[in-house]
Amino acid sequence: MSSLRLLATTLSMSSLVFGLFGLEPSAACLNLTSTFGISKTAISQLDLRYIYSRNSYWNTALNAYAPACVVYPENAQDVSLILKAIKANGSRFAIKTKGHNTNDFFSSVDDGVLIDLSHMTGKSYNESTTLATYEPGSSWGELYEYYLQYDRTVVGGRIHDVGTGLALGGGMSYLSPQYGMACDGFRELEVVLPSGDIVTASSNENKDLFYGLRGGGGNAFGVVTKYIVQSRPIGTLYAGNLVHIFDHHEAILNATRDFILHNTDPKAAILMNFNVLTIPDLDLGLDQACVMFLVYDGEDPGDAFANFTAIPHILNTLGPKTYLEVANLLIPGLAVISRADNVFRIGVHRADDDSYRTAFDRFYQWSQDHKGEYTYIHMDYNPVPKSLTDASKAQGSNAMEMPDGPWFWAEYTITTPPLISTSKYNEIQASFKDLVDGTPNAKGLPFFLNEAHADQDALKTFSSYKRLQQIKQKYDPDGFFASKTGGWSFS
Ligand SMILES: Cc1cc2nc3c(=O)[nH]c(=O)nc-3n(C[C@H](O)[C@H](O)[C@H](O)COP(=O)(O)OP(=O)(O)OC[C@H]3O[C@@H](n4cnc5c(N)ncnc54)[C@H](O)[C@@H]3O)c2cc1C
Ligand SMILES: *[C@@H]1O[C@H](CO)[C@@H](O)[C@H](O)[C@H]1NC(C)=O
Ligand SMILES: *[C@@H]1O[C@H](CO)[C@@H](O)[C@H](O)[C@H]1NC(C)=O
Ligand SMILES: *[C@@H]1O[C@H](CO)[C@@H](O)[C@H](O)[C@H]1NC(C)=O
Ligand SMILES: *[C@@H]1O[C@H](CO)[C@@H](O)[C@H](O)[C@H]1NC(C)=O
Ligand SMILES: *[C@@H]1O[C@H](CO)[C@@H](O)[C@H](O)[C@H]1NC(C)=O
Repeated sequence: MSSLRLLATTLSMSSLVFGLFGLEPSAACLNLTSTFGISKTAISQLDLRYIYSRNSYWNTALNAYAPACVVYPENAQDVSLILKAIKANGSRFAIKTKGHNTNDFFSSVDDGVLIDLSHMTGKSYNESTTLATYEPGSSWGELYEYYLQYDRTVVGGRIHDVGTGLALGGGMSYLSPQYGMACDGFRELEVVLPSGDIVTASSNENKDLFYGLRGGGGNAFGVVTKYIVQSRPIGTLYAGNLVHIFDHHEAILNATRDFILHNTDPKAAILMNFNVLTIPDLDLGLDQACVMFLVYDGEDPGDAFANFTAIPHILNTLGPKTYLEVANLLIPGLAVISRADNVFRIGVHRADDDSYRTAFDRFYQWSQDHKGEYTYIHMDYNPVPKSLTDASKAQGSNAMEMPDGPWFWAEYTITTPPLISTSKYNEIQASFKDLVDGTPNAKGLPFFLNEAHADQDALKTFSSYKRLQQIKQKYDPDGFFASKTGGWSFS
């Protein structure tokens, strides 16, 4: 594994080396090549498409895994044939959109078939129904750009390059306080089941499947090949970042708490992103940078963000923005630039007791005790206001069965240096796990799948867990997905 981790950092070299020595093509890959031809399959590690598919994970540690081949389906029928061939040949596989999930084997595979959905980029808008239809292969930024021509948008990720797999894990948007999670906007899905059957899931057809796919995670019940969702109006927003350096964490935590507890305007959304760098603090807060992402869906935010602008900052980019600019806040291409050995973990809290402070204090203490072991770490506070949980209920609720807000998700990210030994890597990750898992969470609130680590058993925090297990059993009865691809555990 140590050599694999090193390879991930010298990715073009590794692809070359593997390519020259060649891997034995698997039976499934031979089948896919003869069925689809080379226009839809990449079997050589020197193929540029293979190199891109393999090396474009946000957690670059996943670039170490070498699929036996990559297949690029163009429609549901292709996906159906692919799943049948994989099943017949007992191969492992993974389904990938934009590769932002940080967990091993969720969208990556070693010596199996990588199903890369990036060629499925169809999108359309029906003006009479206001429904938007899109295939899974676009980034959110590409979808936002397309729907802007109609002055509409879809509820999706906050950052341009992230993929549509986000919606299957719930999907938190700047618009969520108004319209609910991305998955709440689903109206009808086209799904290729583990059997290879192509079905429709909606509130009328295959209702249980539809329920599971609304926030119960991707790659569990099948492959979604088309989304029909409720679009939303969008115009000019007032948005930007505040960057606070030096030690202002007391004031920032207070303002964040006050926003979570008291903001009642659903058009106002925040993300509090608190970064600690590995450099020494020297009692000046030299190692800290808090980046506030502030977005108001409208031109006049009133005093929604006044508690944040009152805190000393070195950068303030607040002003009128298009929705596409909002998806590129701080630094355009942020999701690309920030690729590194990145791992997510999740916690969940309420802001009306001290647990949100305790969580931050433990995080901050850990950051000081482990200088030199990480490149940087951050903790994000993602508010879940009552308006969001109301909007979710109004659209039939999702698999998270979100209890009434306000509460918030605390997301932790660790970025580790590229050239460390496997034992050191494992040691740091274990300590980071102890930090997060040792921090008490609010009872009765679900973890956020999109930002959870695979070992956190996130589905078990859902009140719908038993129902999801039954749905999994019904749609993946012989455990094909459960045994041959990564993803959330239902057992
Ligand atoms: C920079 C960055 C910003 C982020 N911002 C947000 C945010 O604003 N809001 C939020 O909610 N989350 C956010 N996330 C978390 C993000 O939602 C998850 O990482 C999500 O899993 C990424 O989806 P993807 O399509 O890019 O990745 P992938 O890793 O390609 O896919 C994610 C998972 O979904 C499965 N999957 C994808 N498409 C399908 C399909 N069509 N059918 C079946 N299974 C499928 C994959 O197999 C995989 O298990 C962010 C992550 C990063 C790295
Ligand atoms: C590929 O696999 C499928 C499913 O097992 C099978 O029906 C088909 O004949 C195979 N095709 C080739 C060319 O091997
Ligand atoms: C692969 O599947 C084909 C049928 O499509 C079958 O004939 C062949 O034996 C399988 N090979 C393996 C190694 O499973
Ligand atoms: C839009 O939806 C309506 C109602 O379902 C349908 O009759 C119409 O054909 C659709 N328009 C397009 C362009 O698909
Ligand atoms: C933060 O709020 C607490 C009350 O909850 C108050 O005692 C403290 O002075 C505030 N700190 C700052 C820096 O605003
Ligand atoms: C700003 O903070 C004050 C307390 O200092 C609080 O009463 C007010 O509701 C906050 N405003 C917002 C929009 O969060």
